[in-house]
Amino acid sequence: MNLQDYLKLLRARWLIVCVTTVTALLVAVIVTLLTTPLYQASTRLFVSTPAGSTLTETYQGNRFSQERVLSYTELLMGETLAQRTIDKLGLDMTAHDLQQHVKASAKLETVLIDVEVLDASPVRARDIANTLSDEFVAMVRELETPDSGANPDSRVVVEQRASIPSHAVVPKTARNLAFGLGLGVVLGIGLAVIRDLLDNTVKSRSIVEELTGAGLVGTVPLDKERRKQPAINFESDNSGIAEAFRKLRTNLKFLAVDNPPRVIVTTSSMPHEGKSTTAINIALALAEADHNVVLVDGDMRRPMLHRYLDLVGAVGFSTVLSGAASLPETLQKTRFSGLTVLTSGAIPPNPSELLGSKSAKKVLAELRAQFDYVVIDTTPLLAVTDAAILAANSDGVLLIARFGETKRDQLAHAVSSLRDVGARLLGAVLTMTPERGHGSYGYGYYGEEGSARTTQTRSSGPKELTQDSFQVEPVETPNTGVNAASHIATGQPIAENSSIKRGSDMQ
Ligand SMILES: Nc1ncnc2c1ncn2[C@@H]1O[C@H](COP(=O)(O)OP(=O)(O)OP(=O)(O)O)[C@@H](O)[C@H]1O
Ligand SMILES: [Mg+2]
Repeated sequence: MNLQDYLKLLRARWLIVCVTTVTALLVAVIVTLLTTPLYQASTRLFVSTPAGSTLTETYQGNRFSQERVLSYTELLMGETLAQRTIDKLGLDMTAHDLQQHVKASAKLETVLIDVEVLDASPVRARDIANTLSDEFVAMVRELETPDSGANPDSRVVVEQRASIPSHAVVPKTARNLAFGLGLGVVLGIGLAVIRDLLDNTVKSRSIVEELTGAGLVGTVPLDKERRKQPAINFESDNSGIAEAFRKLRTNLKFLAVDNPPRVIVTTSSMPHEGKSTTAINIALALAEADHNVVLVDGDMRRPMLHRYLDLVGAVGFSTVLSGAASLPETLQKTRFSGLTVLTSGAIPPNPSELLGSKSAKKVLAELRAQFDYVVIDTTPLLAVTDAAILAANSDGVLLIARFGETKRDQLAHAVSSLRDVGARLLGAVLTMTPERGHGSYGYGYYGEEGSARTTQTRSSGPKELTQDSFQVEPVETPNTGVNAASHIATGQPIAENSSIKRGSDMQ
């Protein structure tokens, strides 16, 4: 990965970085707030020796003082002096406690010692610093006075006394916050990189094409509106998702120019990857281009098309297959011109058997004869065999993968399931891709080259056209759908309220 890749990764995973940074900052704020403020009082001591009568004696005295200074700093931080100070001030602490808050340091080549005392009370900090210094002066006098009672060899004076500190030196708020911020950013970036390395979901054209061995024929952006209304009104909608489906429609036509697929199955490896929504809108996009389209709900486990399109769900594909109604009776016209729907019908106890029957093939053949396109929505491939059965009886399959959700091994599994039944894979569709400019992953990072550009898919894939290359004119669509409304009342449900569930739902 180069720098640009890292930048794109950060843009993609900005949330992790932000959350980690804010958390670290919060911890820094809490630590700062919980830390007892400490005040620092300082004194300065001067070490001297009696003046010599000659220059040499004075020089030697100076050297002597400088050597003494180092020992004095140790004594200043020692237990004896701490205890003497505690006794003098009557402090309620141990010598060890006080030692922790006293720091003495000598400047090199000088006879000066700086003493710093930290305490929660500014007044007490000053008192301790001054008393400790005074006690040290006395202590040196005792130590340096010879037994003979002659003048001491060395003398210490308090050159600068402590005053009451005006502000606390602990906690260091700015430093703590800067540390929290820095740590948060570093941790956040680290987590983002790790998360990215562990992410085995499908997010790029290259991965999809590599796993499927087919071209990516469409990318459908995430559009929250679709959750409320799955069907796009192509007559008046020019949103990004509508354009994406128009592009997908164009790509479909280029898949096999001489023998374009007309019976198309949409399926995916797992549930909730956008199969039904995609099937509806592919059908609507084809209908918009003056094609006579029938959308078939081949999902007899958890049919959704009738709900997504506000149709009657009690009669449909399963009703025809069981012989309880004829095909024309069950076809339903929709509010969209050019689109007819064969809903799933009542949920049967044996969907796989029904879908693999000769009757199913016959129904599909009839629909092929009657319509320009037959789009079949199905179940997930890895849950049950229904989708594979329908795929084998179709002209080709659009394999759907959901951006950031479908795992790579799941997609690979789905491809091998299709291969096992000899189904023709037309291409892959990546759904719910984040839209650019909406805090998106901008899956360009993962190799996508942007949906509006002309791109060449793998050899098996079609050429994706620019948006300008197809302007769809509103057209009058022939109305070939048989009005089912009058027949629906007579349709016989096979096993209404059946409790059959998909494999994945039955765990
Ligand atoms: N492009 C999209 N943008 C936003 N939401 C979407 C999009 N496509 C599908 N969805 C939503 O995702 C959910 C699953 O969609 P859908 O029912 O089409 O998936 P599915 O693969 O057919 O699911 P199932 O396996 O249950 O049949 C629905 O709530 C739907 O509204
Ligand atoms: Mg579905």
